[in-house]
Formats: sequence, structure tokens, C-alpha cells
Amino acid sequence: MRVTIRILLTRPADAPAEPLAEYRAAGGYEALRSALAARTPEDVLAEVERAQLRGRGGASFPVARKWRLAAGQPAGEKHVVANGGEHEPGSRKDRFLVAKYPHTVLEGLLLCGYATGAQKGWLYLIEDMAEPLAAAEHALAELHAAGLVGARILGSPFSFEIAIHRGPTTYVAGEETAALNAIEGKPAKPRKKPPYPGEAGLFGRPTTVNNVETLAHVPAIVRRGAAWYRGIGRGSSTGTMLFTLPDRARHPGVYELPFGATWRELIFGLGGGPRSGREIRAFLPALSCAWLSAEHLDAPIDHDSLKALGTSPGCGGLSWLEVGEDPLPRLLEIARFFMAEQCGQCPPCRMETNQIAHVLKGVAEGKEGDYRGAIEKVCAFARGKGQCSLIEMAAAPILSGLTLLGR
Ligand SMILES: Cc1cc2nc3c(=O)[nH]c(=O)nc-3n(C[C@H](O)[C@H](O)[C@H](O)COP(=O)(O)O)c2cc1C
Repeated sequence: MRVTIRILLTRPADAPAEPLAEYRAAGGYEALRSALAARTPEDVLAEVERAQLRGRGGASFPVARKWRLAAGQPAGEKHVVANGGEHEPGSRKDRFLVAKYPHTVLEGLLLCGYATGAQKGWLYLIEDMAEPLAAAEHALAELHAAGLVGARILGSPFSFEIAIHRGPTTYVAGEETAALNAIEGKPAKPRKKPPYPGEAGLFGRPTTVNNVETLAHVPAIVRRGAAWYRGIGRGSSTGTMLFTLPDRARHPGVYELPFGATWRELIFGLGGGPRSGREIRAFLPALSCAWLSAEHLDAPIDHDSLKALGTSPGCGGLSWLEVGEDPLPRLLEIARFFMAEQCGQCPPCRMETNQIAHVLKGVAEGKEGDYRGAIEKVCAFARGKGQCSLIEMAAAPILSGLTLLGR
């Protein structure tokens, strides 16, 4: 596996935000130029479909399916939202991408707007993201000066405006319909679905919401073709993905890897392994995923392989437990995070997340009981009863985590 393939992170990790001139010199905005000159919106959409691009915001949803929903609505006011509302502990890849590669994200946003027939794009960040906000504002000013955003872009009939929105610093504000509410000036709480954003999203209009990394993959797909993109990765997991390694790694940071690389290549090859020098006992691909044990370090990172192991890559914000560490404090931390971050509007979610934290506290206090049974029962009761999927998020890390405790 050539783990050195880079589509997004092509510059040194400590380089400042990529200026427009440098991005263009490396082929940036060429995808947009060629699309506006010679390809229909359907051509662009079909290219993304053939590339089999999946969302990088956590749920791995097929991108073209979402784009088709919005593109298929009657012509008129439509929106695109680039979701950079990253607030999951352990994930820093979205803020890194926007801070360092703002033009890759903006070009993806423009291409999505063109493909779905939208006229307005929103870059959704959160208010404490000083560096990404500054980079995005500067990049947007560069775009205006170059005529790459606004009315009749590059002399084509395509007009597209972009605004940057600062959402609140909460976890739920990153959920797509909560983000729409935040942009509309309402409390950032999830909406009931259906209708899906592609049918009735921002201001009731068809809206495509994609993670900022997802959109950043689009310019390369349009410029170099779906066949090229599909040639990177493994099976139906095409292209590359960004991962965040925690501060307890020798070399923490954001890394790009092609699907099909192994966890060992990521954690030890790129990240240098645990700073402590201890062995890894178990690792969590992202907060709402199931734990994998050390024997899976050589498993390939791709959706099908991970599904067979009962987990997923999530948003790639990795954490781990080292040999000799008690898993319980970590499980309590995760349970308390979901309890604190649930927004309060769905009683079953409030009840479930509180109950999970309560049961784990009982474990910590040495109380006897059927902990697994109690947690399984409350998760089964709550499943599908929330307006967003936070209600399903705690089950996987906690139930698989109980196995680490020998429960
Ligand atoms: C509680 C919660 C928080 C979320 N936070 C984010 C986030 O910070 N960034 C993000 O892109 N998606 C987040 N999502 C997922 C979004 O709802 C949505 O699926 C995603 O933005 C779609 O983009 P993608 O298909 O490109 O992955 C969150 C979902 C939930 C339930």
C-alpha cells in the first residue's frame, strides 16, 4: 500500500494557508474552469457518482445520492452548506483543512453549487475557530478579487455567492439540520426529518450539506476523473481520508491516508506510536464507533472491512487505550460527553445518555448488577426516537467498551 498518496494535504504540515496564486499554480480552480466551460451540471454530478465518493463527516453517506436529491428539485433558490462545525473531541481535521487549504474547500463548494443548481454557498464554522475563520475570510476575498465567485463566474452563466457563518461551539450544532437552524439565526438544534435538507433545507429551500473534507475531494475528482480517484483506495472505499492522531502519539496531527492502508501504518508508521512507548490495547476510530483491539492494527481501513468488524471509520478522530490502562475512566468520559452534549429537545435521548452515564458510574463505584443488560435495554428503547443520530452514538463505544472491562 502506498501510504504516501496525498490528494488534499500536499504541502508541509506547518505551512501557512495556501494562497490563491499557489493553489492555481498547482491546478487549483481548473476543475471549476473546465466545468463551467465545457461540462453540464449533470456531467459534474455523474463524475462524483462514478468516483463513489462518500461523506467524511462521520456517516459515510454516498455523496452523489445527496446531490441528486437537491439537483432533482424544481429550479429556483437552492443552497450548499460546507459543514466545518467540528466539535468532536479528538477530531481536528476539518479545522486543519480549512486553515491550511481554504481554496480546496471553496472550489468543492462551488462545484457542488454548480452540480446541484444552487446559487448560494455557506461555509459553516464554529465561533472559536480563529485560524480557519481568518484563512477562509482571506481566501474568499481573494476569490472575489479574481472573479471566481459572484455574478457570472469566469464569464459563464453560473452565479454563486459564498458566505461564512460562525455557529455556536456545541457538538450538536454540527448536525446538519442544527447547522441550518444556526445559519437561519435560530437555536442550533436538529430538525425532524423528513423533509431532508435536499428537499427543504435552509430557509425551506433545497440544500446540500456536506462535510468540508467531503467537498475538498471534489476538485481532484472533477479535474482528474472518477477512474483515477477510484484507483486510489480499496473496493468501494475510494480515495483518501483524513485522520487525527491524538497528543499521546509521538507525532500527533492530521494525516491523509488512502483507504486500504492499515491502522498500524497510520498510528505507528505516520504517528510514531504512543509517546509512552507502551503497547496499544484497543483503539477507537472516532468517538461514536466501536472499539477495535490490538489484533486489528493490521486490518485495512475501509468501510467494508470495518463493517465486518462491527465498526466504521467515523470522522477519523482516533483515540486509544494503552496496555495497563483502566478502560473505565475513558468510557465514563465518553458517556459524560454525550450526556452533556445532547441538546435536550428529545426526552428519549436525554434519558438514554443520562442512564448510560449513571450505569457506568455504578460500575466505577463497584456496584453489582447486569450493566450490559441495563445499557442494551435503554439503547434499544431509545433507538430511532431522536431527531438526530446522537441518540444512537453512545451505544457502540460503550457496549464494545464493556467488553474491554470484561463485562
Ligand atoms: C450530534 C451530531 C454532530 C455532528 N457534527 C458534525 C460535524 O461537526 N461536522 C460534520 O461534517 N458533520 C457532523 N455531523 C453529521 C452531519 O449531520 C451530516 O451528516 C454531515 O455534515 C454530512 O456531510 P457528509 O455526508 O459529507 O459527511 C454530526 C451529526 C450529529 C448527529
